Amino acid sequence: MKVSCQNPITLKEFEAIASSLGKPLVTNKHVLNENRTIQKLSNDGLFGTDDVDWHHDWSYGRGNYFGTILYNVSNAHLSPTWFCDMSKIPDQLYFKYPFAEGEYYPPQNLHDNCFTEKQLRILEKQKVRRKFQFKHHVTGEKILYCSFGTLRNADDYDTKPIKEWIEENSYKHEWQPNDILIWDNLKMIHKRSSFNGERMLWRTQFLI
Ligand SMILES: [Fe+2]
Repeated sequence: MKVSCQNPITLKEFEAIASSLGKPLVTNKHVLNENRTIQKLSNDGLFGTDDVDWHHDWSYGRGNYFGTILYNVSNAHLSPTWFCDMSKIPDQLYFKYPFAEGEYYPPQNLHDNCFTEKQLRILEKQKVRRKFQFKHHVTGEKILYCSFGTLRNADDYDTKPIKEWIEENSYKHEWQPNDILIWDNLKMIHKRSSFNGERMLWRTQFLI
């Protein structure tokens, strides 16, 4: 969902909107508020400027923190965000992976910037696994879940047809000033390309 704000919003206003959506995730790196629920995405912060492959936020985490709210503080347009709704997957592709299961862990290039050593130790211990085929716990929709950017056992399955379908059925969000995007990471897979310049967004993840 997209919300277009006419004027810039403050951190306090963003916090109020984010916390009205669901219980926010409390985290450690690049946090901006006292409650540690808003993270700064910037060139030298989370995710840097490199390509970010197709992924679902929170694929490697425990608890249902699958909601994301993202606010364009400045220059988000330097790299559009691509989305694809995985509940729209055709049956022949959905049923192609009856036993497949992904193992999820943050990719190496994000370790230093996005996580503390303690967080990485916990995530390693939790070894989150998710079935490719699953039913959304709220909407009951069939979803094919394969978070390429955070998948550890990608070589176990032929995931090429999934990526091809995503590329053909995705749409591009061209960021406008003060845009807010809110999405459900169980359904929506997303990515962005590398960019040059200074770009900044605020993010909160919340329980669905
Ligand atoms: Fe993301």
